[in-house]
Amino acid sequence: MLPLSDTPPSPRKPPNPQLDRKNSFSLIKPYLRCTWIILIVFFVHILLLLTARNFHISTALATNRQPAIAAVDGGDSECSAGKVFVYELPPFFNTELLENCHELNPWGSRCDTYSNDGLGRRAEKLAGVVPESVTASWFWTDQFASEIIYHNRMLNYRCRTLDAESATAYYIPFYAGLAVGKYLWTNNYTAEDRDRHCHMMLRWVHDQPYWRKSNGWDHFITMGRITWDFRRSKDDDWGSRCIYLPGMRNITRLLIERNSWDYFDIGVPYPTGFHPTSTADVATWQEFVRTRTRTTLFCFAGATRGFIKNDFRGLLLNQCYNSSGSCRVVDCGGSKCSNGSSLILESFLGSDFCLQPRGDSFTRRSIFDCMVAGSVPVFFWNRTAYSQYEWFLPGQPESYSVFIDKKEVLNGKSIKGVLEKIGKDKVRKMREKVIEYIPRIVYAKPHEGLKGMKDAFDVAIEGVLNRIKEQEKDGFKW
Ligand SMILES: *[C@@H]1O[C@H](CO)[C@@H](O)[C@H](O)[C@H]1NC(C)=O
Ligand SMILES: *[C@@H]1O[C@H](CO)[C@@H](O)[C@H](O)[C@H]1NC(C)=O
Ligand SMILES: *[C@@H]1O[C@H](CO)[C@@H](O)[C@H](O)[C@H]1NC(C)=O
Ligand SMILES: *[C@@H]1O[C@H](CO)[C@@H](O)[C@H](O)[C@H]1NC(C)=O
Ligand SMILES: *[C@@H]1O[C@H](CO)[C@@H](O)[C@H](O)[C@H]1NC(C)=O
Repeated sequence: MLPLSDTPPSPRKPPNPQLDRKNSFSLIKPYLRCTWIILIVFFVHILLLLTARNFHISTALATNRQPAIAAVDGGDSECSAGKVFVYELPPFFNTELLENCHELNPWGSRCDTYSNDGLGRRAEKLAGVVPESVTASWFWTDQFASEIIYHNRMLNYRCRTLDAESATAYYIPFYAGLAVGKYLWTNNYTAEDRDRHCHMMLRWVHDQPYWRKSNGWDHFITMGRITWDFRRSKDDDWGSRCIYLPGMRNITRLLIERNSWDYFDIGVPYPTGFHPTSTADVATWQEFVRTRTRTTLFCFAGATRGFIKNDFRGLLLNQCYNSSGSCRVVDCGGSKCSNGSSLILESFLGSDFCLQPRGDSFTRRSIFDCMVAGSVPVFFWNRTAYSQYEWFLPGQPESYSVFIDKKEVLNGKSIKGVLEKIGKDKVRKMREKVIEYIPRIVYAKPHEGLKGMKDAFDVAIEGVLNRIKEQEKDGFKW
């Protein structure tokens, strides 16, 4: 079992090793190299601060990662919630991790996985399944790629500012998940190894003049794994302690699964394979899923092998197999579905409903795969979505999803029975709601985002900015 609710998960049992990563890595060398980088960056920073304040633009353009920036400071009246300053972390904390993609995982290279600016390989096999005009918007995106995706978007964000003094929020582009992923899967590493990057990042950030403005309350970070991977309480347990490190206390974290009791954890959608290049792509896709002929009532996609008989997913699987004709099972054992199969998408496209039990943790990427395909999700735990992605999903759960209490299923309630009773009209309304929300749960392909349409990234960052504004207004502090 991986991460369970708020209790730290048991150590090191890969749920699906092929989906994850880790690596061997000289422990001392990067540390020394990084110390040098920090010293140099710090020195340059001081020098620039001393010589001329206005040089901040040159500093920002100093790393090769910086793209051309179009009028970031151009008096954009839309940035009413404020602007974001992006820290220039030493490459050790982000780009170097990506450059070493061949050693992010003990089982093989992740270079393909994180190619195309983190979106992964183009999903050519989907030609014929998706409309031709949107084929180029589909990728085999890894579920843990959000750190890279957010970083690229942030560098081109219309409300980014290069003037740190005027910023409302400060973004720390540290790839926390990639950094720890390397150390998760073998016993060769110590707890310290797993925390090193995070420790060093915090030391770096705390030395920045803007940290002191508000003890970190206006700082935020993307962490591309579930929150439980960063909440280790005992050395022998799973994951890093990153979120528990004292310096992290006030930093807002954008995570694919949050701890619902922690104000600073924000749940953001898992990346799916759909990355529209334009608003026209979105409209084409919405119309496509709206008009699909859905031949099965519901479906269940997941790794079907290895379920214990009384495992909840085992029950669902039984029910699904037992509802022949009404339910479709997609077996995603191993890496069958992560590596270029169109099976999942086809089954979501062909079903009115998709079952979304909790898996190793409360949430699953499958929730978003399902909704992107215009299928209505069926939840069994409130924490699977309702208390996770509040900024991104409709406020009324019953408007877009079905909730069946897990206890009733354990007591033998028929899922088919529940779903069959929902009238065609109601199903259509729910699907329409799901379709309406598709833009908010996908990550657009262009680094600038989509003109005139907010995607998950826009919603997340505006949410962070608004929160900081509200805190200022109310003098909101612990
Ligand atoms: C971990 O250690 C074992 C033996 O101690 C070694 O065989 C293995 O290659 C090591 N794995 C990594 C990823 O360094
Ligand atoms: C977090 O914020 C509170 C309230 O502003 C402050 O007292 C505390 O020192 C901050 N913690 C850290 C680690 O900066
Ligand atoms: C499957 O269906 C059969 C016959 O309809 C029934 O006897 C059996 O209890 C069902 N099994 C499950 C797990 O629902
Ligand atoms: C994934 O797909 C690539 C390219 O199609 C192939 O080379 C690789 O062997 C596949 N990996 C697995 C685990 O199936
Ligand atoms: C879970 O959500 C459902 C539907 O929104 C609600 O009726 C129920 O009270 C919630 N259960 C718990 C334990 O919060």
